[in-house]
Amino acid sequence: MSGSSGLIGSEICVLFHARGYQVHGLDNNQRAIFFGPMGDTRWNQRRLQKELAHFEHHELDIRDRPGVLQLVKTLAPDVIVHAASQPSHDRAASIPFDDFDTNAVGTLNLLQAAREGCPQSPFIHLSTNKVYGDRPNTIAMRELPTRWDYADPAFEHGIPETFSIDQSLHSLFGASKAASDVMVQEYGRYFQMPTCCLRGGCLTGPNHAGVELHGFLSYLIRCNLEKRPYTIFGYKGKQVRDNIHSADVAEFIYQFAKNPRCGEVYNLGGGKDHSCSILEAFDLVASITGCKQEHVYLDQPRVGDHICYYSDLRKMKSHYPQWTPTHSLTDTIREIVDQWRARLTEPCRR
Ligand SMILES: NC(=O)c1ccc[n+]([C@@H]2O[C@H](COP(=O)([O-])OP(=O)(O)OC[C@H]3O[C@@H](n4cnc5c(N)ncnc54)[C@H](O)[C@@H]3O)[C@@H](O)[C@H]2O)c1
Repeated sequence: MSGSSGLIGSEICVLFHARGYQVHGLDNNQRAIFFGPMGDTRWNQRRLQKELAHFEHHELDIRDRPGVLQLVKTLAPDVIVHAASQPSHDRAASIPFDDFDTNAVGTLNLLQAAREGCPQSPFIHLSTNKVYGDRPNTIAMRELPTRWDYADPAFEHGIPETFSIDQSLHSLFGASKAASDVMVQEYGRYFQMPTCCLRGGCLTGPNHAGVELHGFLSYLIRCNLEKRPYTIFGYKGKQVRDNIHSADVAEFIYQFAKNPRCGEVYNLGGGKDHSCSILEAFDLVASITGCKQEHVYLDQPRVGDHICYYSDLRKMKSHYPQWTPTHSLTDTIREIVDQWRARLTEPCRR
């Protein structure tokens, strides 16, 4: 498991451990380098080490090619889940080499290690919806009182996997993730390895170290509890994201690992039922914490930011009919609130 101390990685460690796996986590707390102390994930690493009897942490950078090749050769894991990354599209512009070396080259290191050490083992890669660049913004939109939505009925179920990733503005992060996404598909098709790319929308949950540049719901809830203003970047605060709880992500990954396919791609999100705009998120969070959200509005969207994005889940559900998101958006927010309250010292309480 790469990125084991992060939101998704830690959830997968817990789920696979609960189902009888010996789990090896690979992480070097790079999130604290990318985002500073608020991005630190050591607390989550320590939680796994304390709570999971059959968990082993490996302090390794996925850019360390000999180290990665050696570790995978030694362990020959039954499943590889790859969630380590530089995850922020805004941050990537100021650290282009770190971003590409981590997201693209780090993924290649792991893929080649898998090919040499365990080519039959499912390899599941956490990709992103940013591989579609800003192309979703070219879909006709309609403005509703609190959100944008697709006006084109072709997208009533959301964005499908057939949507083009070509000729749009991606951000350097979207480009480095697109490179890794294509490479993961290629190892699946060219070498018939059981690989898949999960193009995530907003993956969220209580174990996120949310920061302004990554982890919008987690960060927004932290701002609410600390009574700090949340900055909205453009689109009137009506930009829409679909949110999925990390436990539902982990469950899908488990289902894929049990019945893998080669070179697959899925859009992984909560779908329209679990979508919200920033304005709607303010109200949902306030209804749980009792604290009205202060905010600042900047009339300048983030470069390449989606106006409206929710995933079409029909392909996932047709390949894995037993899977569906099980956490409602309200329940997910409640869990994040509870976790932040436990982690922060002086939160606002009802
Ligand atoms: N959270 C989201 O909203 C979201 C959305 C779409 C896609 N994704 C993708 O899902 C994956 C997991 O996201 P997350 O939210 O859990 O991120 P996260 O930042 O919480 O976790 C990533 C972990 O990887 C580690 N890491 C980073 N670079 C590393 C390196 N070079 N070597 C070893 N470890 C390294 C970090 O320290 C961190 O603990 C990423 O690939 C991300 O791009 C996430």
